[in-house]
Amino acid sequence: QKEKPKYTIGFSQCMMSDNWRKDMYQGMKRELSFYPDMSMEMKVANGDSKKQNEQIQEFVTQKVDLLIVSPNEKDANTSSINQAYLSGIPVIILDRRISSTKYTAFVGAENYLVGQNAGIYANTLLKGHGTVLEISAAPNTSPSIDRHLGFVQALKKYPAITYSGIIWQNDQLDQTLPAYLKAHPQIELIYAHYDRLALIVSEICQSLGLRKKIKLIGVDGLAGKNEGLDLVKKGLIDATILYPAGGEEAIKNAVSILTKKPFKRENKLFTTVINPDNVGIMLAQYQKIREQQQSIERQTYKLLDLSRIYSSQKKAVGVLLAL
Ligand code: FRU
Repeated sequence: QKEKPKYTIGFSQCMMSDNWRKDMYQGMKRELSFYPDMSMEMKVANGDSKKQNEQIQEFVTQKVDLLIVSPNEKDANTSSINQAYLSGIPVIILDRRISSTKYTAFVGAENYLVGQNAGIYANTLLKGHGTVLEISAAPNTSPSIDRHLGFVQALKKYPAITYSGIIWQNDQLDQTLPAYLKAHPQIELIYAHYDRLALIVSEICQSLGLRKKIKLIGVDGLAGKNEGLDLVKKGLIDATILYPAGGEEAIKNAVSILTKKPFKRENKLFTTVINPDNVGIMLAQYQKIREQQQSIERQTYKLLDLSRIYSSQKKAVGVLLAL
């Protein structure tokens, strides 16, 4: 007989449309599979902060035992999270930050460091001289804000690197970017705030015959076809800044909090520059992790099978003894 979960975790996810978020979710599910007394319910807000606030409120009403939130926007989602926390529910903030310190723990990489890494590596790629452009997506999210701040801060150290400005990704990027590059022919590097965006930029530069001239840096560094590592390996971008999704770590933290074990309040995940020199090592590591995960899954199924056989044999013995 299956044990009934003792704890319910509510997971408020700002969106789920890309592989980075899917990777986060897979990581959570994998880790959760080790804890049969924990169950998780996810609500996805599709990039709508108001909807996310309502979903957080629903979790509070449901009285979940712990709430994990990957908030859409920094300010817009702060008060609903505060309320959840003040109602006594432990809250883990995952990936994006809010503008308050009313949470139990944070799990994620520092986006300011991501931006700094991008700035330092931009200088390396340009050999200390050139003009750079930044492209971001959502002005009110903490990654967008901090990836920008870290980048411009790092560039201040390099007097011969000129910061041209920031443009915003939208459906018209295939028009706005060529127009910008035409008006600013001195651009020699573009820092795109995530790899999916960097791929679009790479294709636009390619179609303008500028890919050789313009270096490209993305962020995320996922494994998989057309994800960051693959793009670096194929030379479609020059580097990506690793930004781990942290699903496993969030669940590990949740388990410690719920079972009253010691836990860390700030869990800063590792970030680094991935370029053609180290992309092979990264890919090999991911491959190894994938193989280990598959073997864990196989063993888990085997254990489940064994326990099924055991319980049916126990029943059979019971029947025999009753005769
Ligand atoms: C995925 C994503 C990632 C990015 C993260 C920041 O939804 O856009 O590409 O690194 O969110 O929160």
